[in-house]
Parts: sequence; structure tokens; C-alpha cells
Amino acid sequence: MVALEQISKIYPTKTGALKALDDINLQVKTGEFLVVRGHSGSGKTTLLLSIGGMLRPSKGRVVIDGRDIYAMSEAERARFRAEHVGFVFQMFHLVPYLSVIDNVLLPTGAGVKRARPEEARELLERLRLLDRETHKPSELSAGEKQRAAIARALLNRPKLILADEPTGNLDPDNAAEAMGYLVDFHREGGTVIVVTHGTIADAHAGRIIHLSQGRIMNS
Ligand SMILES: Nc1ncnc2c1ncn2[C@@H]1O[C@H](COP(=O)(O)OP(=O)(O)OP(=O)(O)O)[C@@H](O)[C@H]1O
Ligand SMILES: [Mg+2]
Repeated sequence: MVALEQISKIYPTKTGALKALDDINLQVKTGEFLVVRGHSGSGKTTLLLSIGGMLRPSKGRVVIDGRDIYAMSEAERARFRAEHVGFVFQMFHLVPYLSVIDNVLLPTGAGVKRARPEEARELLERLRLLDRETHKPSELSAGEKQRAAIARALLNRPKLILADEPTGNLDPDNAAEAMGYLVDFHREGGTVIVVTHGTIADAHAGRIIHLSQGRIMNS
């Protein structure tokens, strides 16, 4: 499903080049549930963004579902991403001026697929948010915001979900519920890569990898 071939990422900074990923090789199989751990600054977010087609590595290839995603044009990659990959972030990343339902429908724009409000409503119902569909993110609790973000990630029926500390801003009950949706997605055959500090995902993890200074540690 995912193959990273000798990925490095160097950020140019005011104080010189910063190597955030250092020659990463990683294969993630279809249907795998992979947990990524590592200290702050070890490169976890950089890794997820690179896998998701949102951050071009300085070196190496990212192959998703047989496609070399950074060999595509920007427009092609944006469409591929919208159709194949769902993202869930710690800070939810909802668009503040859009209602819940429009946030969920966001990845259907830009020539991807036709907007399907009915499917979005079904998802909102499943995630206990249907009565909030016209509300703005600022009117939601943290748990509700994350459920809206998860609904958005699920809308296009992606094969792969990338989640960057999806439960980091949630209390234990909301964290368990949010993780539960990722587990459901995985049970239905989806591939999950999740960055998380806690142990909440461990019971479901097929594999746990550790990053340190941009490298995968042997465990
Ligand atoms: N846009 C950027 N420009 C320059 N340096 C960056 C940029 N983004 C991240 N870095 C640096 O790259 C390294 C890896 O950052 P990254 O965000 O991937 O770490 P992380 O493991 O996700 O950390 P955290 O657990 O704190 O979220 C860090 O040293 C960070 O300072
Ligand atoms: Mg991070």
C-alpha cells in the first residue's frame, strides 16, 4: 500500500539545513495498522505529510498503491490524495467559516468526485453529529470537532488514513471513541498509520515503529 524508498527531508532554516528525515525505508501493507512513535522533533509529522503527498521529500520515492506520488503533477497528486488518503490531525484542521457538513464535504471539491451530501449525512449520523451539521467548528466541543474531522477523512472512502496524534487534544472517553472509528476503518480493510504518544492504539497496532532523529530505530 505504502512504500517509502530512501526518503530524506531537509528543511532549509535560518540556521542552516535541518535533516528531519534521514534515509527512511518503510513498507506498509494493505490492511496494516501501523503506530509511529518518537520524541518531539523526531520527524513523525514530516513523515506523515510526506506519505500523504503534502510535503515533497528532498530525496527518495513515495509509492502509494503502486503510484509514485511525487512524479505526478500537482493537480494529479491533489486528486489522488483526495480519493485515496484521509487525514486526521491533532488540531482537527476544520475550516472555521464552514459548517460541519461543508467541512465534511470539503474533499469532494476540485474535480475530485461529485459532492454527496447524503453520504456526508450518513457519516455524521454514525459519528453522532447529525444535529450539528449546520454549526460552525467554534460551536463544537473538542470531541465533536475531531468527529467532524474523522467524518471528513472517511468521506471519500480512502484506502489509507494518516492520523497525527488524533487523540492528543481529547479526554479519555473522546479519545477512545475517536480511536474506535479508526479501528472500525481498519476492520473494514483500511490501512492506518497513526502517530500517537499514548498507549491507546497499542492493542490494535499490527506494528509499532520508533523514529529518532529522522531514522527508524530497530526494535
Ligand atoms: N517547516 C519546517 N521548517 C523547518 N524545520 C522544520 C519544519 N517542520 C519541522 N521542522 C523540524 O524538523 C524536525 C522534525 O519535525 P516534525 O514536526 O516532523 O517532528 P515530530 O516528530 O512530529 O514532533 P512533535 O512530536 O513535536 O509533533 C524538527 O526538528 C522540526 O523543528
Ligand atoms: Mg508532529
